[in-house]
Amino acid sequence: MNAQELIDTARTLVAGDKGLLAMDESNPTCNKRFARLGIPQTEEARRAYRELIVTTPGLGEFISGVILYDETIRQSRKDGSPFVKVITDAGIIPGIKVDAGAKDMAGHPGEKITEGLDGLRDRLAEYSQMGARFAKWRAVLAVGDGIPSRGCIEANAQALARYASLCQEAGLVPVVEPEVLMDGEHTLEQCFEVTEELLRMVFNHLYTQRVTLEGMILKPNMVLPGLTCPKQETVDEVADATVRCFLRAVPAAVPGVAFLSGGQSGELASARLNAMNVRFKSRLPWALAFSFARAIQQPALEIWQGEEARVPAAQQALLHRAKCNGAARRGEYTAAMERTSA
Ligand code: G3H
Repeated sequence: MNAQELIDTARTLVAGDKGLLAMDESNPTCNKRFARLGIPQTEEARRAYRELIVTTPGLGEFISGVILYDETIRQSRKDGSPFVKVITDAGIIPGIKVDAGAKDMAGHPGEKITEGLDGLRDRLAEYSQMGARFAKWRAVLAVGDGIPSRGCIEANAQALARYASLCQEAGLVPVVEPEVLMDGEHTLEQCFEVTEELLRMVFNHLYTQRVTLEGMILKPNMVLPGLTCPKQETVDEVADATVRCFLRAVPAAVPGVAFLSGGQSGELASARLNAMNVRFKSRLPWALAFSFARAIQQPALEIWQGEEARVPAAQQALLHRAKCNGAARRGEYTAAMERTSA
């Protein structure tokens, strides 16, 4: 591992007002999203959709890195140019999702453990050789009656740390994603407590596994009330709670926090990120950026619907969301930006 290269890549991923675009949906997840819109669930449809994304003109102005899936990193444009080359030529860093998904955890009803450590060293070597420079692993924690348990938090934190250590050995920047899910009736305070406990545990294990914090990115949830919680805090309250929680648990050596969107609407995700940067940016040790999938892609997917003729309009919608999030990084996002686009 070349530590300086890792540090440089991590810093580049969160530099300026750019962020990450996650397009690493597994085939079942991508197919589910296609099925809802009546798009055929075929390898060719998934390829065409990913071609739409990576060929969006101007994407590199707002996006520093894209996260690919195993099928996608092996695919090409219709004209034969590999996606990795198209992405790199656009000034964007290619990354790859390397976990094998969250599976039911033995002895822990209602909880999941992310799998994929077996054989990971070899897979990382292959992805690195294909041009990937960073890699993502997602752990998911549900909030409910008596959960998440200590056992689930600890097992997921340890897996994240072991994956991160293997990534750095292979010269790839780990994008460490511990996600507290939004589903449920839990309050913002409950999300705060679980997120703090989880982040503390993750950083303990990252330390134990000798991960260089300067050469990684944290990809967490924002601190939010559950989707069906009757009390929904304001944008500013969410921003305050999120930053307060992270100041307690995220070491200053980490260069950037790139949030996942987790099912928030695109507008709300931009507004909340914006509020954090407006209120705290000048006082924080790490950059507050984005690594959204749905909150960037959803409008484009809905416009596209599998039709070639709709590609330019879908690309415009994708670029618009990327631009809004770039503005949110500067603390300059406004609701008026959405009206301009409409
Ligand atoms: O692992 C999840 C994705 O990378 C982020 O997706 O922004 O739709 O939550 P999301």
